[in-house]
Amino acid sequence: MIETPHFAEMVTAKNYDREPFHRWLYFKQGYSPPLVRAFLDENRPRGGRWPGPILDPFSGSGTCVIESGRRSVPAIGIEAIPSLAFLTNCTFERDLPPLSTLVSSVLENESEPKTSGVGWAVPTEIAAQLEHPLHRAALMLAVSRQYTTAGKFNRGAKPLQSLFADVLATMNEDLRTPMPQANICRVGDARNLSGIADQSIGGIITSPPYLSRHNYQQITKPYETMYRFWYGQDPERGPAPSTQLPAHARARTATAISNQIPLGYNVLQPCLEEIAISLDATGQKIWINIVREYFQDMRRVLMECRRMLAESARLWVVIGGARLGDVYVPADLMLAELAENCSFRVRAIRVARDLVTPRRKFGAAGHIAPRESIVIAEARR
Ligand SMILES: C[S@@+](CC[C@H](N)C(=O)[O-])C[C@H]1O[C@@H](n2cnc3c(N)ncnc32)[C@H](O)[C@@H]1O
Repeated sequence: MIETPHFAEMVTAKNYDREPFHRWLYFKQGYSPPLVRAFLDENRPRGGRWPGPILDPFSGSGTCVIESGRRSVPAIGIEAIPSLAFLTNCTFERDLPPLSTLVSSVLENESEPKTSGVGWAVPTEIAAQLEHPLHRAALMLAVSRQYTTAGKFNRGAKPLQSLFADVLATMNEDLRTPMPQANICRVGDARNLSGIADQSIGGIITSPPYLSRHNYQQITKPYETMYRFWYGQDPERGPAPSTQLPAHARARTATAISNQIPLGYNVLQPCLEEIAISLDATGQKIWINIVREYFQDMRRVLMECRRMLAESARLWVVIGGARLGDVYVPADLMLAELAENCSFRVRAIRVARDLVTPRRKFGAAGHIAPRESIVIAEARR
């Protein structure tokens, strides 16, 4: 484990909402464009030819595919939430046609956004008039700006019309800046990427959902609802929401999939058992299956990553530990152990920052803050 405080800013999207294309959707849970640049610079093969495209199997707002595209590097994103994949793909469109006069006049006459219509305060007559993907994306992004990064309506937000105009202006400006490589984000499930061939990927940089931190369905609901209005529930367009990680809501009611999947669970048994005992002792039984499922899911993801990665290619996983009451889950160490078990060689765990300040007392464990780290591994022969 290496302390790398210069990565502290790079593992978050917080200070990078001004870069072209990345500024379309402010996704607090993302990592930053400089982190992708660091990955590309550090791992670029001699001669500059990557053995295959770069992959981010938890693409989120598309930071990896967008930044790789700006740097002329082919990349693929996989994302469970269709509206996020759609918004990412929109950054590779080139032309933004003018709005129809009908839409413009509806927007001009609308003094207050209506609260009925397409889900969140979007008048149906406006949404129904928009056909071009970039116009639809602009309205989705305008709506997203009326919400906090946790998905709550922000009463102080500007009216929708003016946000829509702002987004269109930003898009117009960014579409004039170079995007030499048109990349793609597909809707899919990181645990099963059978559509991607063995050893075909030149490098992976990714950040899975963290245990206990964000509910992506809640965060993306405002624009996901709009996406569904235009593109429907067609399963071709995305897996059912229940395939998303982590399984907060699902795990509360469903029996753990852990019973059904014979994964190498034994590898983690001592650590997981210790966590399970502590959770039980502190009255947090509800978390036991969630934690188990989470690491089983991570193992499936790592196995897929190992299968797809070209020999010696690198994997960077940005991951945060968790604090469940007084129980501490060292997710970076657990993931590193899993990676070794999936035929990776772990090169380093770069500790970027503490997730909680000031440090909190963890019962018998003393003062420990959950870390946010980058696990760096190489595909072993
Ligand atoms: C931490 S965010 C990734 C943010 C991304 N690095 C960025 O810069 O925007 C994790 C993402 O994984 C997605 N996700 C959750 N479960 C998934 C699954 N099974 N397959 C693919 N993506 C999934 C979530 O919807 C969320 O967008």
